[in-house]
Amino acid sequence: MTDTLTGPVPEADDAVPEFPMPRQSRCPFDPPPALKDLQSQGPLVKVRLWDGSESWLVTRYAEQRAILGDPRVSADIDKPGYPSKAFAEAGEGKLSFIMMDDPEHARLRRMVTGPFAVKKIEALRPAVQSIVDGLIDDMLAGSGSGPVDLVDVFALPIPSLVICELLGVPYEDHEFFQENTKTMVRTTATPEERSVASREVAGYLAGLLGKRIAEPKDDLLSSIAARITAGELDHEQATQMALLLLIAGHETTANMIALGTLALLQNPDQLKLLRETDDPKLVASAVEELLRYLHITHLGRRRAVIEDIEIAGQVIKAGEGVIMVNEIGNRDPEAFPDPDRLDITRDARRHVAFGFGVHQCLGQPLARMELQVVYGTLYKRIPTLKLAAPLEDVRFKDDAFIYGLHELPVSW
Ligand code: HEM
Repeated sequence: MTDTLTGPVPEADDAVPEFPMPRQSRCPFDPPPALKDLQSQGPLVKVRLWDGSESWLVTRYAEQRAILGDPRVSADIDKPGYPSKAFAEAGEGKLSFIMMDDPEHARLRRMVTGPFAVKKIEALRPAVQSIVDGLIDDMLAGSGSGPVDLVDVFALPIPSLVICELLGVPYEDHEFFQENTKTMVRTTATPEERSVASREVAGYLAGLLGKRIAEPKDDLLSSIAARITAGELDHEQATQMALLLLIAGHETTANMIALGTLALLQNPDQLKLLRETDDPKLVASAVEELLRYLHITHLGRRRAVIEDIEIAGQVIKAGEGVIMVNEIGNRDPEAFPDPDRLDITRDARRHVAFGFGVHQCLGQPLARMELQVVYGTLYKRIPTLKLAAPLEDVRFKDDAFIYGLHELPVSW
């Protein structure tokens, strides 16, 4: 693997805009202004990627859903035209079924859907509530009224504890897998650094799977291990599946907790509504609106076109790449009136923050439940929660595949 995200880009045709574009530092919750401009110009535009290759950027909500739901596109990073491999790879090789097409994608995904069903996830709500309450107790019992880094003491532990419990990964190893995950999703890491990080965690998970083959427990790793024993998965496939679940299970939700909290602190009227409500429907609605408004998987859903597709008067040819920037799909005024306003009372559930089509997020019931518990608890229990540094000093993750905050200093 020789691609890098930071290396020199070959000479570019000035007429073709480069993607990704920088955000405006004054508006850290908004998509880059250049992306919004492209959206107002039309639903499809050609862009140039880091490695100099060109791809179609799909800017509007309706077209994004149409293409993500179309079987003529492929999530396989080895297909000709797949938008810049380096851009997609969080580690080494294919990260299980998220980078596969049906029927193999469906076969593998089906093996792990059970624990993420809404009913199963609802049964975990009391346990998640007690994790959240316990961490808040620790914060309040700790260093007076702060400051503390909310990412470190709250946002990252919650989803990490939960996914560890579901998978059967020992939580005491969290620093090891969290640090390696950070490298895997950092766009400024070299491909070699990302590969090493990915191999480290894969090796660790392969070891745990081996133990579960010998001695099964009541956890998701054991049911994945049983598929190896049954000859339905080889060890490598099982390991990549566990890796996908571990990474997706903690890094995403952690960023939503921290970034969502900061967005609410910057929108005190919305925070007040949330703090003062006892209505679980309003809390659930706030979760959907924050997912829409913040859209942490900000570098777009990427696909290779495998058969010509005609859309919005344009033919996208087989062998070309498409990137659905759901971040601006969620800010499309045709789909969400007054899209740049954070309004937790709006019905935002149709957002595309979890993607769309066959690859739509498997963990969304879990992510939703965790965020509902967090957003419904934290600001009530610590009503005076505030940012403990100037906003300009907060470090946003412009350098990661998943947007969020490196730290969130808060006091109360
Ligand atoms: C706020 C939190 C989350 C966000 C914003 C999010 C977002 C996404 C998005 C946009 C996709 C689609 C990828 C694509 O189309 O290429 C996806 C897929 C996926 N997510 Fe999540 N996710 C979140 C939490 C989780 C959690 C907690 C898990 C639990 C393990 C999870 C597991 C997965 C898996 C396994 C896939 C691949 C699905 C497939 O390819 O069939 N996600 N996620």
